[in-house]
Amino acid sequence: MPAAPALTVHAPSRTVSIDVRNPAFFQNPHWTYAALHAHCPAFFWEERQQWYFAGYDQVNGLLRDRRFGRQILHVATRDELGMSAPKPHLADFDRLEANSLLELEPPAHTRLRTLVNRAFVSRQIEQLRPDITALANRLIDGFEKDGEVELLKAYAEIVPVTVIARMLGVPTDMAPKLLDWSHRMVKMYMFQPTLETELDANRASSEFGDYLKSLIGWKRANPGDDLLTHMIVTEKDGERLSDDELISTAVLLLNAGHEATVHQLGNAVRVLLETGTPAATAFASDADIERTIEECMRHAAPLHIFQRYALSDIELEDGIKLKKGDQVGLMLAAANVDPKKFSDPLAFRPDRNEGPHLSFGAGLHFCIGAPLARLELKLSLPILFERLPGLRFKTEPKVSDNYHFHGLERLDLTW
Ligand code: HEM
Repeated sequence: MPAAPALTVHAPSRTVSIDVRNPAFFQNPHWTYAALHAHCPAFFWEERQQWYFAGYDQVNGLLRDRRFGRQILHVATRDELGMSAPKPHLADFDRLEANSLLELEPPAHTRLRTLVNRAFVSRQIEQLRPDITALANRLIDGFEKDGEVELLKAYAEIVPVTVIARMLGVPTDMAPKLLDWSHRMVKMYMFQPTLETELDANRASSEFGDYLKSLIGWKRANPGDDLLTHMIVTEKDGERLSDDELISTAVLLLNAGHEATVHQLGNAVRVLLETGTPAATAFASDADIERTIEECMRHAAPLHIFQRYALSDIELEDGIKLKKGDQVGLMLAAANVDPKKFSDPLAFRPDRNEGPHLSFGAGLHFCIGAPLARLELKLSLPILFERLPGLRFKTEPKVSDNYHFHGLERLDLTW
């Protein structure tokens, strides 16, 4: 196993230092995860000053543990927690977050999730099959004759954004704008964003919010057969969604609807090519396609860490003491390669039958878009390999220097 020079472990105190900007780490975090599993699966991350968990059982358990939440301000005030005041230059960004499904806890979370969930159950999503197939084929028609392509821009990015825009009833010619707003907003999830990033994310939030406000106004007068109209007209317990809730939910669905899938698609192509997995085997039957996709998601997840707040003072089984308001980091991608759960975990083996990966999370906030993401992958990956026999790297792919979205800078392919 190559050394993990970006990592220092002090096992007695369970303190770990990881330099996330070191290419030795972010190009392939698997080596660091293997060292963490061997020496310190629950650890205090020095640079971030909080506890992190890498073991499968612990991450899975904490995601489902109702003593933890994505939000804390429903059970304590900023003053009580010694939290700094909201930054005025992030007001528009914060307003979107405040009403976002992902940032809410029950009962507000339950109400919003129930409203949108119907559109995302597998039975509904299956109806998108012909549309996604046609879209994937049309995109390939556009570059097939060139003999080469940068796959992220020409394919991996376009499929998910087009599909989620259509579902919501947002005109698909808005796709470039949606991508621009979303890219600028998700930079906020990087560790310690700069002031410039914050200002830009706030501008993007304001523009995105204004656009959706006017679209919602238009849809009230011109209802369609789409999710946005459904959210506007549906009542839950005699209540409708407020404009702020509608806008936040639409932004979350549009952003979450493509940011992760783009990278999962790129990472999947990369792992299939790197491991020399023959497409004829990987995609031989529907069951093979399913197994291949799940193994790609386990092995090459796009989202590596999510955070939770301790909602009260808690002492965990292994003696770790947390105070109300402390944050913990749950390393989904590290859990996916825990040798206690998956045998020979760094090997890519679609035929393993060892239980689910955690790439879509678990518990209350389990990814609502999982059936959609799975269908997009199940269709767009096999079609790509079938249409372009001999598909191979044109240049060696590089992982981008952004640990939170583990994806490629670009993916240059030829055939
Ligand atoms: C491969 C692609 C995807 C991955 C890896 C992924 C991963 C995740 C994960 C890990 C969570 C849970 C976060 C947490 O527990 O804190 C989540 C939540 C969520 N995802 Fe996805 N996602 C993907 C695609 C999608 C798509 C296509 C949509 C489309 C709508 C979507 C919408 C959402 C929403 C709305 C939530 C919040 C759910 C809640 O808080 O109840 N995701 N996703």
